[in-house]
Amino acid sequence: MGDYRIVFNNPGLVGHELTYMADAILRGHSAGNGTYTRRCQELLERKLGSPKVLLTTSCTDALELTALLLDIKPDDEVLLPSFTFVSTANAFVLRGARPVFVDIRPDTLNLDPDLLSSAITSKTKAIVPVHYAGVGCEMDRICSVAQNHSVAVVEDNAHGLFSRYRNKFLGTFGCCATQSFHESKNVICGEGGALVVNEPALVERAEILRQKGTDRSRFDRGQVDKYTWVDVGSSFLPSDILAAFLFAQLERYEYIQAKRKKIWDTYFDQLSSWAEEHQVQLPYIPDYCEQSYHMFYMIMPSAALRDAMIQHLKRSGIMAVFHYVPLHESQMGRRLAPNASCPVTSRASSCLLRLPFYNDLSESDQSEVLKAIRRFDAWKDDQARTASAATMVQ
Ligand SMILES: Cc1ncc(COP(=O)(O)O)c(C=O)c1O
Repeated sequence: MGDYRIVFNNPGLVGHELTYMADAILRGHSAGNGTYTRRCQELLERKLGSPKVLLTTSCTDALELTALLLDIKPDDEVLLPSFTFVSTANAFVLRGARPVFVDIRPDTLNLDPDLLSSAITSKTKAIVPVHYAGVGCEMDRICSVAQNHSVAVVEDNAHGLFSRYRNKFLGTFGCCATQSFHESKNVICGEGGALVVNEPALVERAEILRQKGTDRSRFDRGQVDKYTWVDVGSSFLPSDILAAFLFAQLERYEYIQAKRKKIWDTYFDQLSSWAEEHQVQLPYIPDYCEQSYHMFYMIMPSAALRDAMIQHLKRSGIMAVFHYVPLHESQMGRRLAPNASCPVTSRASSCLLRLPFYNDLSESDQSEVLKAIRRFDAWKDDQARTASAATMVQ
């Protein structure tokens, strides 16, 4: 992480992680689907009210498992934002599908539901909304478009564990949803994820695909006397040692969230009038959404000012980062969707920066970040640069 005094993320322990990991090993079952995997899954199922949650080795794997589960085939089309992580697209592209990039709303940076209907064709198999920063997409409208066209909804909920949209948990709207427990998220186990299966008819096959195409889950429950190869599949199970780490984190969810809410609220309260004065956009949380306090971002008035702010914070020993190179502008994206145009995505991506945000960010370090932001004085340089660029164009 270089010479930063205040890093961007600093994952840590919140409870009994080390004890539970030792316990998982000493129980003599450190492979997948052991005691801690079951405990995590049951906790998530109970809280979300979903018929099945299956831990996976990452959100990426959960997305790949979903693409198998939905029988995504070459030439199928999948609608998704360009403003997302590469795995949202890659999971479907791996099965030969064509990603169709749909632009986002400028306020929440979530899929713009007004653009969905015109993007749907007879080849569309799924819509994959991404709840950016754990703030819910417009699920009422997205689900209604999907239903009208008989298309599946898969929620990429990497950022939004236990967030809500109109009082209902994110991850419980689509037939499936995927979670991430990567070290950059709120609740972590290094690398990890989960597939939330909301459609009971999909549960049994999801278990089989996740267990290398075998009916081992049925065998483990004593429903068959041996397990065998019944379908395609792969190895999507995490070790029970990682599940033990994750269970300790899930147990301390309220503690984690209280810390993160305080940090998020401080950034927001302390930056609101500064942001207004300088035309900087802060996160917008619709009043019918309960967010996850996953990240804090600012959208600067121009790309030059965003880059200058990142450099300015770096000179103060503070690490701030940009987020998501738009997929439609990437090398693969241009090849797969050469005509995609997502102007809101392009602008947000070029002007957005994320501030240091982790459970143990101290009050004094956060106050140093805030002071450094207020010291930023390149506003005039940018006006001069913009004016000279305009002159050159003329
Ligand atoms: C929206 C989104 N989806 C999927 C992923 C992939 O998650 P994982 O690292 O658990 O595979 C990320 C990673 O940050 C993400 O931001």
